[in-house]
Amino acid sequence: MERRDFLATAVITGGTVATAAVLGPVAWTALSPAWSDRRRGVWADVGTLEEFEIGKVTHAVVEVPRDDWAASLRRRGVFVWRQSEGNVTVFARSCTDLGCPVTWDPGNGWFFCPCHGGIFDRDGEPQRGPPKRPLHRYAHRVEAGRLMIDLDSIPPQAG
Ligand code: FES
Repeated sequence: MERRDFLATAVITGGTVATAAVLGPVAWTALSPAWSDRRRGVWADVGTLEEFEIGKVTHAVVEVPRDDWAASLRRRGVFVWRQSEGNVTVFARSCTDLGCPVTWDPGNGWFFCPCHGGIFDRDGEPQRGPPKRPLHRYAHRVEAGRLMIDLDSIPPQAG
């Protein structure tokens, strides 16, 4: 191989390696949202289905898997509305106005937000006050009699 051919090959090889080193992370960053959409979610155990009485809304607490200093944030309150034997809805506690935690008022049969007086019916639909959007609903499934929710199925600020 002549010196000129050797230098040309070295420049092309070096350029290819340098381009891959720069574009590889860029491509990874650009494509990772598409890959993360295929993730299986972060599933949390809410309890056995029998714990939630048919026809009632029940408050429950789930453990959030975290490994950081924020121990107090490892638990998350949710509301389980069990309409019938096989029909369950799990609501986030955050009001869809500005995120205050709502409470369940069994006497009136509605969710109440103390911050600005927002009221949601038991299906999570806004009825009065500032909220215009329904309460967030977790994706859920029942596995071996246990109610599981996907913690990533609602916006992060709503959890
Ligand atoms: S934050 Fe709930 S009504 Fe405003």
